[in-house]
Amino acid sequence: MRTNGTTTRVAFRTAGWMVLALSVCGALSAAAIGVGTAPPPARQSELIYLLKQDCGACHGMTLKGGLGPALLPGAIAGKDNETLVDTILDGRPGTPMPPWRFEIAPREAAWLVKQLRKGVDKR
Ligand code: HEC
Repeated sequence: MRTNGTTTRVAFRTAGWMVLALSVCGALSAAAIGVGTAPPPARQSELIYLLKQDCGACHGMTLKGGLGPALLPGAIAGKDNETLVDTILDGRPGTPMPPWRFEIAPREAAWLVKQLRKGVDKR
């Protein structure tokens, strides 16, 4: 009886740890693939800097347009997220819009489009 009680308790404790371990793994892998998560704050600043400097070289420092079209909220209002994200990642062959896949991860491109829709501050 004593032995059984101990065994049961150990089994329950082990199960508890396993549940905990599984949820930690779940949280980690969700973070790794970036489901529903914005990039970390430091990376957000880098991306906004890239947007103003590198993208701004063609789209205008204030994104009002230049060689590339305006990327202001009103200008992209009628375009779907997928098209815009794909354009950022893969560029538009046959136009000066280059692919950014090697510098910008898909979830970061999605985050950038979200920022463009909100309007990136003009400083
Ligand atoms: C070398 C110039 C150049 C650079 C640098 C550049 N773009 Fe572009 N971009 C263009 C051009 C030109 C187009 C229009 C392509 C076309 O004719 O469809 C475009 C199109 C786009 C579009 C689609 C707009 C629309 O209305 O359909 C998005 C979004 C975009 N660029 C985002 C970016 C982002 C974000 C960056 C920086 C990471 C960037 N671009 C850097 C030239 C550039």
